[in-house]
Amino acid sequence: MRVGFIQNNPVFGNVQENLSRIERLLPAHNADLFVLPELFATGYQFTDRKEAQSLAEPIPDGATTRALMSLAKQTQTFIIAGLAETDAKQVYNSAVIIGPSGYIGKYRKLHLFDTEKNCFTPGNLPLHVFDMNGAKVGVMICFDWRFPETARTLALMGADLIAHPSNLVLAHCPQAMITRCLENRIFAITADRVGTESRIPGESLHFIGQSQIVDPDGHILVRASGVDEAVHVVEIDLSLARNKDLTPNNHLFNDRRTDDYLL
Ligand code: ACM
Repeated sequence: MRVGFIQNNPVFGNVQENLSRIERLLPAHNADLFVLPELFATGYQFTDRKEAQSLAEPIPDGATTRALMSLAKQTQTFIIAGLAETDAKQVYNSAVIIGPSGYIGKYRKLHLFDTEKNCFTPGNLPLHVFDMNGAKVGVMICFDWRFPETARTLALMGADLIAHPSNLVLAHCPQAMITRCLENRIFAITADRVGTESRIPGESLHFIGQSQIVDPDGHILVRASGVDEAVHVVEIDLSLARNKDLTPNNHLFNDRRTDDYLL
């Protein structure tokens, strides 16, 4: 399976420009699955809920989801992309999951980071593993990485790979995702952004880039720079993630002592 990410530097509020850039970049690369960053079309730092609402779109009936559906059909690619979603009342920090045959589903970020709590409603959909021509793909968004239960739940649900749209501002995530992959024997694609947003006085945000693809043994198959936009695609073998044997006598899931855990 060929999987990739696009690392972007969106212009805040310019959905058309940010989308057009993806529409130009993506078809130039051959992949079965592309992951795009969190809030890839709008930018990240909303000043308040009203502003987030004004830039959010319904999923799947919004213009950006429809454009991604055309792109997925044209390129015969699965696409997972972070979007600001509105359902008329609430605003969610969501990801849309699309395939060559159309809309598949969505995920709403469970763990909102810092001032996101002023702009978004916490996710209210269960964690889910999506089938993509036999590949089992779990979805989580950015700060969800900080709660290992998220990746563990997706792995226990059968995910071979976690798609992880992100807008990272904390330094630890790229290294922490190596541990998430090791502790679950899964692949992970973190699609991040670069650049800075200073839309709230005194709260300038610097995004750290370093989008990456990590394998179930914790190898970094590719990691992008911290400053440049980038597109990367790698070939992965999903059977690695389906083998949970650690030694002839240890199985990653069957050896768990669930009676002794405080979960
Ligand atoms: C984040 O969750 N975007 C830091």
